[in-house]
Amino acid sequence: LGSPLWFFETVPSTNDVLKQRAEQGAPEGSVVMAAAQTGGRGRLGRSWLSPRGGIWATAVLKPKIPIDRVFMITMAGSIAIARAIRKEYDLGALIKWPNDIYIGDSKVAGLLLELSAEADVIHYAVLGMGVDVNISPVELSQVSTHVTSISAELGHDVDRAPLLARILREFEGRYLLLEAGEYEAIVREWKSLSSIMERRVRINTLKSSFEGEAIDIDEFGALIIRKDNGRIERVIAGDCIQQEP
Ligand code: BTN
Repeated sequence: LGSPLWFFETVPSTNDVLKQRAEQGAPEGSVVMAAAQTGGRGRLGRSWLSPRGGIWATAVLKPKIPIDRVFMITMAGSIAIARAIRKEYDLGALIKWPNDIYIGDSKVAGLLLELSAEADVIHYAVLGMGVDVNISPVELSQVSTHVTSISAELGHDVDRAPLLARILREFEGRYLLLEAGEYEAIVREWKSLSSIMERRVRINTLKSSFEGEAIDIDEFGALIIRKDNGRIERVIAGDCIQQEP
């Protein structure tokens, strides 16, 4: 991963730049980075604040995995970011389903996977990663109160290059596991870094909203919830908000 790596001062969205390049034949592992994004995108059509100081990067992948395993690419990415933050800075980063990275009760990073696929063939996937690294609390407060950055946690700015290098390295190892069909290993590691297992959560999907206990994540990355009436619900897409115990 990261060969080639293209760096831009400002782009609308690194995902969009890399999609164009993938259409033109950019090889697997190509990475696009930008110092700032003017049209950074998050999940569910949300915008993603991307001022200077963050890591805004996207990798192109040509995964040789069944299409129903695609979500596991973001699981591998979430593990990579959480582990990299933990190892580089000794901060207690955890994953909140589906693919947010939190420190305490504040979000520090997120991932956006987009696919070019046809029936059951994946042409390519672009995995966008956004990490709030050296971003001041004042800038972060434009987004929400539950957002943080590495510099806000540590009280000083950090060098972003080692963090990006570690994220790419950690991701590559797990991506290879995924391609080798080692799904269980990824799920196990994801669970060990999860902030919501056995916690009370509210789930908002496009169709409904309900509360329950997050009891498991299955081998496809779906969240398994035990609702208050005892029924088990399998959630494949949506938002998950942790509730007070
Ligand atoms: C989310 O948590 O909603 C996902 C955020 C993903 C942001 C990254 S920053 C690099 C890449 N380019 C984008 O426009 N989005 C992703």
